[in-house]
Amino acid sequence: MNELLKIENLNAYFDKNKVLKNINVVFYEKKITALMGPSGCGKTTLLRCINRMHELNENAWVEGNIFLKDGENKFIDVYSHEPSEIRRKIGMVFQKPNPFPTMTIFENVISGFILNGIKLPKKQAEEIVEETLKKVGLWDEVKEKLNKRGTFLSGGQQQRLCFARALAIKPTVLLLDEPTSALDPIATKNIEDLIITLKDTVSIIIVTHNVGQAGRISDYVAFMYLGNLLEYGETEKVFTTPINKKTEEFLTGKIG
Ligand SMILES: Nc1ncnc2c1ncn2[C@@H]1O[C@H](COP(=O)(O)OP(=O)(O)OP(=O)(O)O)[C@@H](O)[C@H]1O
Ligand SMILES: [Mg+2]
Repeated sequence: MNELLKIENLNAYFDKNKVLKNINVVFYEKKITALMGPSGCGKTTLLRCINRMHELNENAWVEGNIFLKDGENKFIDVYSHEPSEIRRKIGMVFQKPNPFPTMTIFENVISGFILNGIKLPKKQAEEIVEETLKKVGLWDEVKEKLNKRGTFLSGGQQQRLCFARALAIKPTVLLLDEPTSALDPIATKNIEDLIITLKDTVSIIIVTHNVGQAGRISDYVAFMYLGNLLEYGETEKVFTTPINKKTEEFLTGKIG
């Protein structure tokens, strides 16, 4: 397996509060990695450090290094490139479906281009919209109403639209922050199936509280606790023989 993201000596702060403590980890390409751990342990913060969003909070800062694979045997330093460039390579989907409310379904899918000032020829835009909506399993449901607002869709459909929005600009990495926690069981199952189909084209890091979900979809699991990364490895191994006592307690529902 190939290295994708190398995180070295990463600390993250809100004011004086250190919420990530010397994180060292390598995530792999074309794999699904689940980030788990109790509420407040720093999962969202870690995702937001990876795509340069943490620093958007007032008085928030980061120390350490993150390197992202960018072509054969080449890594770029995430913190010495433009945040907008990094966010094109590292897409994100959030907990609550949040299509742009003033945009149509069509515009939402290509919003990454619109917001980056890239004007696509009409035919190319149409191709990207169709291809991406097919990829997320939404095309048949919305092809007759591409000019309607994205917010008019059901919650599960809106979330798939958010996946399409993130995927349309062909990111290397997709960060998912509890993408199914606001959805019903059927929509959750659809999104889990979608995530599995995506791993041929994009590397995925997913925050989930749900041990069952991590077991169903992830190849690797990282377990965080109070800002530390306590355990990391292949899901099957971590789930069957956790090394750290806290990991075991979390997996068996004693904490979390
Ligand atoms: N905007 C903020 N300002 C100050 N502190 C924050 C802010 N956001 C998060 N924190 C703190 O940073 C720590 C890590 O929070 P984070 O949101 O990364 O946790 P999490 O693991 O994603 O939790 P959850 O499972 O509840 O989403 C927590 O102690 C939290 O209180
Ligand atoms: Mg969170």
